[in-house]
Amino acid sequence: MLSSNRRKLLDVFRAADGKLVSGQEIADALECSRTAVWKHIEELKKAGFEIEAKRGSGYSIQPSEELFTEEMLYFRAKTEFIGQQVAFYKEVASTQIIAHQLVGEGAVDGTVVIADQQTAGKGRLARPWDSQKGTGIWMSTILRPNIPMQQVPQLTFIASLAVAEAIDNVTGLDAQIKWPNDLYIDKRKVCGVLTEMQAEAERVHAIIIGTGINVNQLEFPEELRDKATSLAILAGKTISRGALYGEIVVQLEKYYQLFLDQGFAPIKLLWEARAIPFQEKIVAKTLQGEIRGTVKGISDEGVLIVRDAVGVEHAIFSADISLG
Ligand code: BTN
Repeated sequence: MLSSNRRKLLDVFRAADGKLVSGQEIADALECSRTAVWKHIEELKKAGFEIEAKRGSGYSIQPSEELFTEEMLYFRAKTEFIGQQVAFYKEVASTQIIAHQLVGEGAVDGTVVIADQQTAGKGRLARPWDSQKGTGIWMSTILRPNIPMQQVPQLTFIASLAVAEAIDNVTGLDAQIKWPNDLYIDKRKVCGVLTEMQAEAERVHAIIIGTGINVNQLEFPEELRDKATSLAILAGKTISRGALYGEIVVQLEKYYQLFLDQGFAPIKLLWEARAIPFQEKIVAKTLQGEIRGTVKGISDEGVLIVRDAVGVEHAIFSADISLG
């Protein structure tokens, strides 16, 4: 985790939004001498930040496109609480596991755990999640809303909605959501969401939203080649993971706040506007068997409603969905 001085220094530059900050402003924020300011700036340079110094006027930072470190991710998070506590790992088994541990240690609402590489990334339905080094955004966000257990599934829709919007804003691509929370572009998966929680009886302690985004992979393992793609492949250029992360936490906070203020209704409408395959024929593979039919929508509990050929409606809680 970041030291308090480093945090204060980054706060000053973040608030300046790329404009010059005088040495005196920094000295005041950190309650230190001008000589100490110079030392702090040198340390920030060593940490990879590109700092421009103008004699007599001050310093400015332009966020580096490639830098993917705890400091840069903190600097990128222009939010009130999501990402204000961030734990970055170069390599970790799974950010979900770390997030569960942090919940036990009292991590605050909005804490993000993020890694450059996962060696045992977890997907839905106990599948592995391919999380190669330096290619994607592998993050787990801890949320601690005061909501009853029945509302937890509603929260999971916020993540896919927020990431879809962030992808659109940063890359210009058009991400669509396949129930429950997969993001697809051009019929291939670019992002998956895994929601887990810690709860007892009726009390929800925390919800952990794991988000895996294929950003800069140029190749995928054989078994994923037909199903998955990356934003870089689709956009034809490298995408800044830091910039995308910054936009994700902003959108996540926006929709989470909307949910807390107004409930699920506005989220449901926005989610449905981005969803595939509404009104399309699908095949849902569930543990109880296959259901073929047309998607009618989602219920307030986030359950998928499918109408079969004879008009019977099925409520689907968990399944693999393909177009039929
Ligand atoms: C899916 O199966 O579609 C969900 C994939 C979720 C992957 C993310 S990557 C960050 C977080 N850590 C994990 O181990 N899994 C989630």
